[in-house]
Amino acid sequence: MSSVGTITIEDGVGIITIDSPPVNALGIHVRRALRDCFTACAAKDEVKAVVLICNGRTFFAGADISEFGKPLEEPTLFEVMDLIENGVKPVIAAIHGTALGGGYELALTCHYRIAVPSAKVGLPEVQLGLLPGAGGTQRLPRIVGAAAALDIIVGGAPIPARKALELGMIDCLADEGKLREDAVAFARRILAEGKPLQRVRDRHDKIDADKGNVALFTEFRAKNARAFRGFKAPENIIKAVQAAVELPFDEGRKRERELFEELHDSIESAAQRYYFFAERQTAKIPDVPADTPILPITSVGIIGAGTMGGGIAMNFLNVGVPVTLIDTTQEALDRGIRVIRKNYEISASKGRLTAADVEKRMALITPAIDLGALSDADLVIEAVFERMEIKKDIFARLDRIVKRDAILASNTSYLSIDEIASVTSRPENVLGLHFFSPANVMRLVEVVRGAKTRNEVIATGMALAKKIGKVAVLSRVGPGFIANRVLGPRKDHAEDLILEGPTPTEVDQAIYDYGFAMGPFQMLDLVGLDVILDDTQRTLRGDLIAAGRRGQKSTAGFYDYDENRKPKVSQAALDIIAEFARFKGVTPKGSLPADEIVARLLYPVVNEGAKVLEEGIASRASDIDVACILGYNWPLYTGGPMFWADTVGLQKIVAKLEELEREHGEAFRPAKLLKEKAASGGSFTRG
Ligand code: 3HC
Repeated sequence: MSSVGTITIEDGVGIITIDSPPVNALGIHVRRALRDCFTACAAKDEVKAVVLICNGRTFFAGADISEFGKPLEEPTLFEVMDLIENGVKPVIAAIHGTALGGGYELALTCHYRIAVPSAKVGLPEVQLGLLPGAGGTQRLPRIVGAAAALDIIVGGAPIPARKALELGMIDCLADEGKLREDAVAFARRILAEGKPLQRVRDRHDKIDADKGNVALFTEFRAKNARAFRGFKAPENIIKAVQAAVELPFDEGRKRERELFEELHDSIESAAQRYYFFAERQTAKIPDVPADTPILPITSVGIIGAGTMGGGIAMNFLNVGVPVTLIDTTQEALDRGIRVIRKNYEISASKGRLTAADVEKRMALITPAIDLGALSDADLVIEAVFERMEIKKDIFARLDRIVKRDAILASNTSYLSIDEIASVTSRPENVLGLHFFSPANVMRLVEVVRGAKTRNEVIATGMALAKKIGKVAVLSRVGPGFIANRVLGPRKDHAEDLILEGPTPTEVDQAIYDYGFAMGPFQMLDLVGLDVILDDTQRTLRGDLIAAGRRGQKSTAGFYDYDENRKPKVSQAALDIIAEFARFKGVTPKGSLPADEIVARLLYPVVNEGAKVLEEGIASRASDIDVACILGYNWPLYTGGPMFWADTVGLQKIVAKLEELEREHGEAFRPAKLLKEKAASGGSFTRG
């Protein structure tokens, strides 16, 4: 036997233990070990039943994603599965941690499944732009029915063991910490009862009723059309589950395979698989070793009880960390706390929290007006106005109040952390923690390292973000850090473009069709035209505001809004745009095709990404993609701007930027790094 798989025999039960850290993914070594162990168990007369269990933190976490796209080595997962399912001795999957994707599909080929209460099972392939391609779309409907299978497979969320038991996805629960003993006892019971082997593939009681029920699938499609927009996997999953209902098992499995391969070869899935690793890569910082000590953070102070400060506070309250919330007036504090309570009560009304959970969180807040209340905090996050003088004043005062080894963080989205840190006596303990609004919802936190921030403080910032359920992307100091800076050109060029002919509607439609939830002008109207405005010179937004058009809040901005906030084309806005174009001396040239609009707005984003890399603000291209996807809802299935650029072709992007530079000036000049990569046939994200 290999070191990956071992067999021990206890009283007639062969226990196959797989040990392949970190997550027992079903790569070639694991598949070989499974084949060898099952073949050996089949050959041993003293083995009457088999328990399949894993060492380490989890049962099999699925196929080995890093093997996708490479030639498949034998035995395939199918060969292993057939060996298990068609064997004559009962096999019991003993599940702890997470049995996901191919891991749960493997469990479905075992004759029984037992799990500890803390375990979760599921088919999350949809998140990789795939479908469960090892029989999952055919076997799960046979256990839970087609409707529930659609929800589970298209949703992709892992199901906790107790719920899985109710659904029939597992057969029984083991005691926590006693999985092995309970699984062996279960195997012995099966043997004693002498029941015939249960093969999920032979069941049809749950799917018979839905044969010919086309409406089940069309209604599911229609109900979720908005959520599925741009993604390929949901449609193929629907087709595969329909095949499970309509076709005999082997034909259904063949259909599943075709649909899987179609997805596997798609750019959308390649992008989502890339993103899976990109998100995990963000935690790895080349010059901050993985074993850098993490400083304990048991209490947090937040300065500013507004939307941002309140949202940030909720993240800590959610994980049981007490928060001292500071604002300058009692009224502002009361308002901030009311908003936090209201947010929690909305969650409770939707069943996501109990009333007791709400009270538990609220009890962790200590409101205060005096900064002195922060003397014992381990971490203080400042979330006040974006004015350097105010921030410096706060940091200088904090430095005198807060204990020596505490970390001081700013939530600034644009300003220099180094300048802020310079007013303290501890710049090594100062960093940026840049949350995205709404801070209790958006998953991105940019951890900004100042020139003097020490490694322990960076590592603590990264770990803390993970603890509160965020993904941390490390940035160096520079205006706008990563996401705001990279996406900035999209907005600027959109405002220039509408002077040349394309209307806000045309621009918004092109960006929406690319995959964003809304275009730049709908976004500006939503946020408010008067938020972040350059009032030192005449601007288009300034003209719109002067005409009373501040965005949705004044029922008029780039669009007119009815009482349901539905946008309508606004002749008044178009006239203001035309007038501003005349003032700027721009001659309108009429509409542009959507792909030209996309190139005009998004190639400069790629270019800015290249500059951010060149300057060392971001450590790697994939960090930029993660920041844009999580901070700006850049469509996941494109992989983010840098992955997308590689799929478009860097030479094509450089050629277009050079053309735009000739026409519109240096704002479009390709970055040095982009030109070098294009010239050498290189890429940002491949290899
Ligand atoms: N293949 C390859 N590597 C994997 C992997 C997989 N299926 N799952 C996790 N890893 C790697 C991660 O990249 C990470 O590597 P690193 O340490 O070098 O960064 C390491 O394992 C640990 O992963 P996490 O940091 O995510 O560990 P957590 O403890 O936070 O989470 C987990 C564990 C819940 C299992 C999570 O890793 C996860 O969700 N994994 C993916 C599960 C999945 O999508 N399975 C389906 C795969 S596709 C499939 O099975 C196709 C089939 O239908 C044919």
